[in-house]
Amino acid sequence: MSGNLFEDTDSILSEERIFPPTSEMVAQANITAYMESKGFSDYDSFYKWSLENRFEFWDDMAKKLHWFEPWTNTFEWTNKPFFKWFTGGKLNIVYNCLDRHIQTPTRHKVAFHWEGDDGQTRSLTYEQLYILTNRFARGLQQLGVKKGDRVAIYMPAILEQIVAVLAVARLGAVHTVVFGGFAANSLRDRIIDAEAKVVITADGNYRGGKLIQLKKITDEAVLETPTIEKVLVVKHLGLDISLQEGRDVYWHDLAADIPEDTFVPCEPMDSEDLLFILYTSGSTGKPKGVVHVHGGYAVGAATTTNFVFDLKDEDIYWCTADVGWVTGHSYIIYGPLMNGATSVLFEGVPSYPNPDRWWSVIEKFKVTVLYTSPTGIRGLMRFGEEWPAKHDLSSLRLLGSVGEPINPEAWIWYRHNIGRDELPIMDTWWQTETGSILISPTIIQPLKPGSATRPLPTIEADVVDKNGQSVGLGKGGFLIVRHPWPSQMRTIYGDPARYITYWETLPDVYFAGDAATIDQEGFIRVQGRVDDVIKVSGHRLGSMEIESSLVSHPAVAEVAAIGKPDPVKGEHVKVFVILKNGFEPSPELEKELKLHVRTSVGALAVPDELEFTPSLPKTRSGKIMRRVIRAKELGEPIGDTSTLDG
Ligand code: WT7
Repeated sequence: MSGNLFEDTDSILSEERIFPPTSEMVAQANITAYMESKGFSDYDSFYKWSLENRFEFWDDMAKKLHWFEPWTNTFEWTNKPFFKWFTGGKLNIVYNCLDRHIQTPTRHKVAFHWEGDDGQTRSLTYEQLYILTNRFARGLQQLGVKKGDRVAIYMPAILEQIVAVLAVARLGAVHTVVFGGFAANSLRDRIIDAEAKVVITADGNYRGGKLIQLKKITDEAVLETPTIEKVLVVKHLGLDISLQEGRDVYWHDLAADIPEDTFVPCEPMDSEDLLFILYTSGSTGKPKGVVHVHGGYAVGAATTTNFVFDLKDEDIYWCTADVGWVTGHSYIIYGPLMNGATSVLFEGVPSYPNPDRWWSVIEKFKVTVLYTSPTGIRGLMRFGEEWPAKHDLSSLRLLGSVGEPINPEAWIWYRHNIGRDELPIMDTWWQTETGSILISPTIIQPLKPGSATRPLPTIEADVVDKNGQSVGLGKGGFLIVRHPWPSQMRTIYGDPARYITYWETLPDVYFAGDAATIDQEGFIRVQGRVDDVIKVSGHRLGSMEIESSLVSHPAVAEVAAIGKPDPVKGEHVKVFVILKNGFEPSPELEKELKLHVRTSVGALAVPDELEFTPSLPKTRSGKIMRRVIRAKELGEPIGDTSTLDG
């Protein structure tokens, strides 16, 4: 961590515009109803109450779910920081997503409207999703999947991806979803780390008109994964693929013998039993397997979906993320389904075939709540106001943003062009590790462009210095959270020591890895990462992952990867490359190295800039100083270089 990060932050705190909620918004809000039941009429006093009564709050929230057996302890401190929530309780998150709704009129409601890359559509009611999930779960059982087994899911954004996730969790097995844009090596490493027994994939898919050969990539990945016994393939495009005898199975072949009325009961899970592992980037080359569990995660995802997106029975909700990221887990699948919502699942990209694709999806399905990313907004801003103006977006009533800081300019554009200068924007701050949203306005609070505003109930967020002392209003520092919350990660799979660092970097608080400020009125502004994590289009990349990929190329001796500010992507990657003796810089080599990153990590990690250099600044112990390289590159003060190699 560097000490000079925050010197200039005061000047950024000039945002004075405040957008208060209307009285109608406040009156009808889900959170208002709960606040009133506790005797509160304003958020600030309710929030203060929640800090002192956090277990009462979370007990109330957990009671909204269906438990096979109630919990005996809301929270256990005993083995700090391996906190436990709702211990003694038994539930299955999938029962709360499906089985519960089958017993109510929600049964006949649409769970998902799907739109494919090519414009095809397909919808599933809760009943249809339930039937498919039961059959899929039976298929997985036939392939030997049982409680506790890990199953990798490497699929496009199709309805079967949702079914696969739910079927795995229904059996009490543990899913690890790998984003369909990752390359074979990345898939392989995740399968190996999770010791997955089965991988579920599709033949292939189109994204933005480009073919992705998922089965081929899977074949390459599983060449080196000793634990994989079966590859289950969903036919999506009907590509001509090869199936390996004894290992590969087509879902439709398996399904042919599984009747429509198949019922596979939800495995009763302890609150603390594993639900999923999701890999994310940290400051080392190896991605970390963030572990979430059935109980606390379900409570956190259900509660935040209800309070932040304020979902009502008639809403049509669309989260534009991919299921491969945590946003997709919590706010495409689990949160909305637990709330009985109707959602949209979209396979394509925002600008294909035209830059009004998103707006046409909103118009077609009459989307009321839109949850998207600053990169998505900035990317579409470039094409001009005329694209959204072509569409009737009047169905919208609430907007959301996630994944990276949203600059006030993009916030205002979003509100003006998509939100007709009326709609509130929920700028939601959270992380793969937090499981659900921690800092965000709700529909009843005033908004400031570019600010995630305030913590949600019970969340004690603060900005501190490197000794853990609050820096006070208007000053920059490290974002921390002072008390555990139900949906927090439980550990890093296979690496508990790495988990502990989150609670020990600064004594006894959760260290998020972000810089932030709190202004005079209490509005939190998250500024970005203070570690070696780079946020490219909201996707999280580790400098070391990109460096390790490049160093594995025969021409490369050493590499440093840094993030540089980017007007659309938030940040883009620049790499500095030292070649081995005998290799000369050339445009061809540059191209080859970029391709190498694409095929070993994935397209999202490809550097925008690559510079060949004869040397890199290092510490006396030989560590490359990315901070110094970055400061030089951006023309910023270099700060303390006393450990720099002379
Ligand atoms: C990092 C976590 C949370 C789901 C998607 C990303 C950044 C996230 C915001 C926001 C400013 C944000 C932070 C955080 N971030 N939301 N509203 N404002 N920054 O999850 O991939 O685990 O990344 O995303 O830097 O630490 P993730």
